Amino acid sequence: MAMILITGGAGNIGSRLAMLLDKNPNNHIVILDNLLTGIRAHIPNQKTSRLLRQMLINVSM
Ligand SMILES: NC(=O)c1ccc[n+]([C@@H]2O[C@H](COP(=O)([O-])OP(=O)(O)OC[C@H]3O[C@@H](n4cnc5c(N)ncnc54)[C@H](O)[C@@H]3O)[C@@H](O)[C@H]2O)c1
Repeated sequence: MAMILITGGAGNIGSRLAMLLDKNPNNHIVILDNLLTGIRAHIPNQKTSRLLRQMLINVSM
């Protein structure tokens, strides 16, 4: 099983990517989004996808 983290996954691009990857039953999708502009209903297959409602921060390396 592949564990895939999608940042911004409740938005336009992220949710479409999540929908594509969700077609493979071997994928386990975790979405990180603070719902600033994203919509909870965009998240596909809410039984198997998990939403982490957190803020992404920029980290200087
Ligand atoms: N017309 C269409 O059908 C269509 C389709 C796809 C994309 N677009 C356009 O493409 C552009 C890009 O789309 P997008 O998907 O990148 O933008 P988006 O705003 O839809 O998605 C960004 C996501 O990131 C989240 N987010 C933002 N800052 C965050 C933070 N600090 N921490 C956690 N989550 C955070 C938001 O809540 C949102 O869900 C947009 O301008 C959109 O209008 C249009």
